[in-house]
Amino acid sequence: MVHIRRFAFRVAAALVYVSFVQAQTISSVCQRISNSISLASSVFYDPEPSYLADIYHYAESSSQTSVCSVEPGTAEDVGIVLTILGSTRTLFGIKGGGHIMNPNYSSTAGVQISMSRFTAVDYDSSTGTVVVGAGNIWDNVYEALLPYNVNVVGGRVSGIGVAGYTLGGGYSYLTNQYGLTIDTVRVFELVLPNGTVTNVTESKHPDLFFALKGGYNNYGIVTGFTYQTYPQGLVWGGQNIYLGQYVDQINAATADFANNVTDPKAALITTYDYQDGVFVISVLMFYDAPTQPAGIFDGFLTVPALSADVSTRDYLDLVLTENTSTSANMRGYYNTVPLMDITLPLLEAVVSQLQYWQSILSSDSGTLFSYDVEPFLPTILTHGSPSAYPWTRAERFLPLNVYFAWTDAADDSDFYNALVATAANLTAVAVSEGQVLVPVAPHYPNYALYGTSLASIWGTSLGEMIVVKEECDPHNVMGLTGGWKIPI
Ligand SMILES: Cc1cc2nc3c(=O)[nH]c(=O)nc-3n(C[C@H](O)[C@H](O)[C@H](O)COP(=O)(O)OP(=O)(O)OC[C@H]3O[C@@H](n4cnc5c(N)ncnc54)[C@H](O)[C@@H]3O)c2cc1C
Ligand SMILES: *[C@@H]1O[C@H](CO)[C@@H](O)[C@H](O)[C@H]1NC(C)=O
Ligand SMILES: *[C@@H]1O[C@H](CO)[C@@H](O)[C@H](O)[C@H]1NC(C)=O
Ligand SMILES: *[C@@H]1O[C@H](CO)[C@@H](O)[C@H](O)[C@H]1NC(C)=O
Ligand SMILES: *[C@@H]1O[C@H](CO)[C@@H](O)[C@H](O)[C@H]1NC(C)=O
Ligand SMILES: *[C@@H]1O[C@H](CO)[C@@H](O)[C@H](O)[C@H]1NC(C)=O
Ligand SMILES: *[C@@H]1O[C@H](CO)[C@@H](O)[C@H](O)[C@H]1NC(C)=O
Repeated sequence: MVHIRRFAFRVAAALVYVSFVQAQTISSVCQRISNSISLASSVFYDPEPSYLADIYHYAESSSQTSVCSVEPGTAEDVGIVLTILGSTRTLFGIKGGGHIMNPNYSSTAGVQISMSRFTAVDYDSSTGTVVVGAGNIWDNVYEALLPYNVNVVGGRVSGIGVAGYTLGGGYSYLTNQYGLTIDTVRVFELVLPNGTVTNVTESKHPDLFFALKGGYNNYGIVTGFTYQTYPQGLVWGGQNIYLGQYVDQINAATADFANNVTDPKAALITTYDYQDGVFVISVLMFYDAPTQPAGIFDGFLTVPALSADVSTRDYLDLVLTENTSTSANMRGYYNTVPLMDITLPLLEAVVSQLQYWQSILSSDSGTLFSYDVEPFLPTILTHGSPSAYPWTRAERFLPLNVYFAWTDAADDSDFYNALVATAANLTAVAVSEGQVLVPVAPHYPNYALYGTSLASIWGTSLGEMIVVKEECDPHNVMGLTGGWKIPI
């Protein structure tokens, strides 16, 4: 007994010692980085305000305490940082907007890299493209482009980072017209793991260009994106919130929109929520003109709303309509089901799952149970060339998003298991109504729960992605940072 206890004590002491030594080692790596980078870049430590901003994530469960944070200010400095991290085999995280809902995907216990100093938004009217630094959130880009009456295909609510969102695919209000965000990227400025800075284009580097479109941080660190822009005037839209008692009308209007509206300027997100125990439905409506043609949104606009904020406005004002800070700073994960169709019975199954899981987990620390359905036209994947995600463009799938938020870390595994179970249920429901490809369809990596198989994320792209990985990152330096990882 005494022996066992003493042994257990020694093991515990050894573990504490090991993590102490690791922190010491990482701390010397931080020092080395600090001594090697230019004046454009900085290293920060707890509790400096810049350090706290650098490790901050939208979901508390996506944050970790790192040994130091680095804010590189030039692509060359990103290269210096990467070569030091690679040669010392130090774990690191790369953060754009910090909105990914999987833990350890853009955070780390090692060295946190924040791209926050890459803030350029440079519009070139002669080419109709804009160079956007990887530290921006979409809000900044929309604001900078407003005076030029052009826009990019970006995020739909406030606060999302351009980097992770673009490197995973990107579903926008403008996707029905122009495709996924990756279909609008013309150049990735990429720092390879050996420190070389390169502008990756479809014509010069077809394989790497393909692999980056859905390949995140597997090939290096992207410092900037050049996007195609499109003409943009005032838009019509916003968010209405309805009490749960109107669910039948909202279901009918949503199914009708998903199956009958063919106008590519119209877009919709219907979200079924239990927020602090109350069943409400949020409907985000969008039309790419100052006024909506009669008919498209009548099924929603005729239902009495708890709150209504739909108007003619500029694009930035539109994305500010949803208050995303109500669900920030909680623990939270997403999961996804790639639907073929949004039917009335499927919406009823979604609502039934929402009610089921909020009742099952009401004794846990759940604050938000949320299912959103996102209709898109069958043609959205015809606007771009092949990409790692989605690995087939033969058919477009509709990324249903499930989001649970809670406050107590002890409940993490309950919510993880519930998110796996609810996705399995809705997949089975979809299959039972004839949506037979749902189980084998590409799962949107910006929504998929960690643990989802790489075959679901990258499918038939994986072979080519591995070949490119072996070329660009033979020592798997990028395996030291978290995320969807290419196995080599
Ligand atoms: C409130 C909210 C709303 C959302 N709305 C939408 C939406 O409308 N449409 C949509 O498609 N998705 C949406 N998403 C999902 C969103 O696309 C993902 O969360 C996305 O990963 C966020 O990008 P980020 O830069 O903020 O994330 P981060 O957490 O910073 O990064 C995500 C991943 O990208 C990697 N990465 C970040 N920067 C770089 C870089 N410079 N180089 C290489 N790798 C990098 C990270 O290491 C990490 O693995 C939403 C998410 C939230 C929380
Ligand atoms: C990549 O392109 C950007 C924008 O055109 C340019 O500023 C930068 O110098 C280029 N980088 C390299 C390594 O060619
Ligand atoms: C599509 O429109 C037709 C004609 O108005 C209607 O009968 C049908 O119910 C609509 N589909 C859905 C799913 O609502
Ligand atoms: C948004 O929500 C937060 C948190 O619930 C609240 O503090 C804030 O006042 C809200 N903002 C607006 C504009 O409603
Ligand atoms: C899905 O869950 C519902 C409860 O929301 C249940 O009635 C149904 O049997 C489940 N379906 C499948 C296929 O698991
Ligand atoms: C860096 O890696 C790239 C891709 O493998 C390679 O083309 C380049 O020559 C390397 N540069 C140096 C300086 O080793
Ligand atoms: C985070 O990701 C890194 C890189 O993939 C991995 O080595 C590490 O074990 C992960 N940490 C946790 C806590 O999952």
